[in-house]
Amino acid sequence: MALNGAQRSVTILGSTGSVGMSTIDLLDRAPGRFAVEALVANTNVERLAEQARRLGARLAVVADPSRFRDLKQALSGSDVEAAAGPQAVIEAAARPAEWVMAAIVGAVGLPATMAAVDRGALVALANKESLVCAGGLMTAAAARSGATLLPVDSEHNAIFQVFTGRRIEEVERLILTASGGPFRSFDRKRMSDVTPREAVAHPVWDMGAKISVDSATMINKGLELIEAHHLFGVPEERIEILIHPQSVVHSLVAYVDGSVLAQLGTPDMRTPIAYTLAWPQRMATPSARLDLARLGQLTFEAPDATRFPALRLARESLQAGGGAPIVLNAANEVAVKAFLEGQIGFLDIAAAVEDTLARESIPAIGSIADVMALDGVARAHARSLLRRRNVVQLA
Ligand SMILES: NC(=O)c1ccc[n+]([C@@H]2O[C@H](COP(=O)([O-])OP(=O)(O)OC[C@H]3O[C@@H](n4cnc5c(N)ncnc54)[C@H](OP(=O)(O)O)[C@@H]3O)[C@@H](O)[C@H]2O)c1
Repeated sequence: MALNGAQRSVTILGSTGSVGMSTIDLLDRAPGRFAVEALVANTNVERLAEQARRLGARLAVVADPSRFRDLKQALSGSDVEAAAGPQAVIEAAARPAEWVMAAIVGAVGLPATMAAVDRGALVALANKESLVCAGGLMTAAAARSGATLLPVDSEHNAIFQVFTGRRIEEVERLILTASGGPFRSFDRKRMSDVTPREAVAHPVWDMGAKISVDSATMINKGLELIEAHHLFGVPEERIEILIHPQSVVHSLVAYVDGSVLAQLGTPDMRTPIAYTLAWPQRMATPSARLDLARLGQLTFEAPDATRFPALRLARESLQAGGGAPIVLNAANEVAVKAFLEGQIGFLDIAAAVEDTLARESIPAIGSIADVMALDGVARAHARSLLRRRNVVQLA
């Protein structure tokens, strides 16, 4: 394995985001252990070029073609190759890095994530939307190509750590923990007034804007439920959600003999990322160490599906199967963007998802092209529903 001597080659899709920067922080702390093949961002060429120069990446890609000239300029005088556009993003993932961090936000990250899976890479999977939309296709592709899916979400990483090597028949339940987000104790009336700024201020985790809003509506936990189903092959009715505001117990696996195994740690994404980066070994991280005596107590409570309807919607979409989770995800991405832009209220997000799911006809899905087509149709549908609800002036 590369970490025993040779360098491990790595590519980071979404290097300028929250997960991408935590990954780069770990690379910075382990000089000589990793060689960077490619870094990918959407528009942030300044940060991308700085990362690529500092880490000696072979390639830097910006998805937005209009930023190509700026990227070239920012990299001038270095040996880093520059490229731009959605196809270049996919080609970056297809280059022969041993390990790929899939940390683009949203379903737009699916084609590049699949390119890494199709060539049999170790794929550190943060981009949960791609698994939600194409879970069956992705796990089948990994089985064909020999790719290893290494979950980055702290909950799934926790389950992966206590699940590896066990047999699915031995598992009674998966228990995904959830912080409950910033509005855990708010009633619906109070939620109706919350602002984007309040929604992105997560009480425990420091994350990108979209996942922070998803945590506030709790659809993030619904997406994670779908993700867990695909990653671990456990049916929806055997996956539970448990509110745990301290985010110390990252998730649990209950076995048929009554044993319950959990993974614990302070809430710092560098711990699960490092687990995937060094896999199957471990590497040191600077994450704060867990001090249970100082913490004193850990608390748990059942989620409230009435105040957080997005949880129910995610369960229903998984039960419905076919393309329903694609529609759920697409409508949510459209609604979260509209909320962040101040065009709709917080409670309109789940309402828009529910409306779109109710009205969209859900076809069977047989290919990534089918996924992307339904994603596009559902987005258009969600936008027009929002317009018709007269709550938003979307272009
Ligand atoms: N943040 C966390 O702690 C956390 C934890 C678990 C799972 N996740 C999952 O990890 C993924 C990333 O989350 P994040 O919080 O890191 O998001 P983020 O901070 O918003 O970063 C998103 C990254 O994706 C890039 N990107 C966006 N659109 C792109 C496109 N069309 N093509 C190529 N690159 C694109 C962005 O580039 P620019 O900077 O140029 O816009 C940025 O590098 C999400 O799926 C999220 O659910 C995150």
